[in-house]
Amino acid sequence: MMADTTARYAPAGRRPRLYIETYGCQMNVHDSETVRHLFALEGYDETADPRTADLIVINTCSVRAKPEEKVFSALGRRLPLKRRNPALVVAVGGCVAQQWGARLQERWPRLDIVFGTHAIAELPEMVRRVRETGRPQCANSFRERIPSLDIVPRPAAGAVSAFVSIMQGCDNFCAYCIVPYVRGREYSRPSTEIIAECRELLVAGVRELVLLGQNVNSYGMKTSGEIDFPRLLAAIDRLPGLRRLRFVTSHPQDMSPDLIAAFGTLEHLCPQIHLPLQAGSDRVLERMGRGYTAAGYLDIVERLRRARPDIAFSADMIVGFPGETEEDFRATLDMIRRVRYDTVYSFRYSPRPGTRAAAFAGQVPDDECRERLARFQALQDEITRANLEQLVGTTRQVLVLGRDRRGEHWSGRDDANRIVNFSAAKPHPHPHPHPHPGDIVPVQITRALRHSLQGSRVHTGTEAY
Ligand code: SAH
Ligand code: SF4
Ligand code: F3S
Repeated sequence: MMADTTARYAPAGRRPRLYIETYGCQMNVHDSETVRHLFALEGYDETADPRTADLIVINTCSVRAKPEEKVFSALGRRLPLKRRNPALVVAVGGCVAQQWGARLQERWPRLDIVFGTHAIAELPEMVRRVRETGRPQCANSFRERIPSLDIVPRPAAGAVSAFVSIMQGCDNFCAYCIVPYVRGREYSRPSTEIIAECRELLVAGVRELVLLGQNVNSYGMKTSGEIDFPRLLAAIDRLPGLRRLRFVTSHPQDMSPDLIAAFGTLEHLCPQIHLPLQAGSDRVLERMGRGYTAAGYLDIVERLRRARPDIAFSADMIVGFPGETEEDFRATLDMIRRVRYDTVYSFRYSPRPGTRAAAFAGQVPDDECRERLARFQALQDEITRANLEQLVGTTRQVLVLGRDRRGEHWSGRDDANRIVNFSAAKPHPHPHPHPHPGDIVPVQITRALRHSLQGSRVHTGTEAY
């Protein structure tokens, strides 16, 4: 439903301004895009300065204690701005909003709006109600089908890469994880809608699509008549204009033979997979409720490598899960030596209210967790570095994303999503013009840095523009 233009908020003689800050995972990044889109329709401009805003939106994450604390300090910074501008509306959304609901407003009485993960579409109406009544608003109940899933944010002009949300929620209830409580039950969007959205993005000039969900490889499994994830990938792979296709996050327990085979057969599916392991000890995996063993995981890795020998792996890992012994922890170190991930996002275990593990015996003391995490990260840094070193001298196909202001250095991603910075200092004569965002150009790698590669562009006659 279109908003009534006469009811729109218009501060004296100018368009209203939105300031938005985002914490947490790609879901939240995508949700913030939806919020931007909704308020662009309401006539808002975006501002990078919260002091000039008419509406401040804080999109929050509660997956561990640390990201959760960020919302409290953000509120401490933003709410005092209301003193200077009494018309300012402050809203907190996302996973902390979902979990805390109106309790946030009990603690911060000047907080105008709390909107949960299923209430994004209601935000413009809630802002209007605050302006009309001056009363705080809160919406954090779960819906069966989330209305904002169908709101498709338009890609920014010139965007090369775009997220497409294919499902919402999670039904896995891993013992440590708050996500199922703050994102609700798993729901797969109809494939016809997803494919239509992908088509639209490609027509708008996007080259890379990243399919998003907490557990993408269980896509469609609970919806009768729906295609499964490998078939969805195959349908998207065929769309005109697509150059690269990726997805996050997949769960090892739902890795089907068809999905593994897709890495060998689909033209645009990138040789890269984020496959969270969480722990290397079977005893810990069992207590986490992950549904696989270390050997089962290694078998998936091997089969993926057989389907696509150049595939690169990344993962999430938790150190210091309740009951984790030194021996369990060593099993985790052993796994990263075997898999040789490009990147691992590693976290100290953080007890989350309401989750099973928060009540488990054997919580590992803080200093022990810290020490294990430091050992873990030192080893993984070595592996990351060695993997990158191996690429020196090779030529990578780089999707160009941008360049520095002087136009001498360019940045992009290779097919395994590694950051590649390269030089293209001298303008090349026809037929090799400067690369543009969205081009895929061959780059010879000359140097490995800690988390990225450096190189220079080569001309092979196979460039794709
Ligand atoms: N759906 C994804 C992960 C979502 S949360 C999956 O199934 O893997 C992102 C990551 O945060 C998790 O993979 C996990 O490594 C980490 N995480 C989640 N809860 C945590 C907790 N209580 N303490 C520490 N890390 C946690
Ligand atoms: Fe959390 Fe597990 Fe669901 Fe991932 S699969 S979101 S870790 S409950
Ligand atoms: Fe955080 Fe919510 Fe994502 S808890 S990790 S923002 S789903």
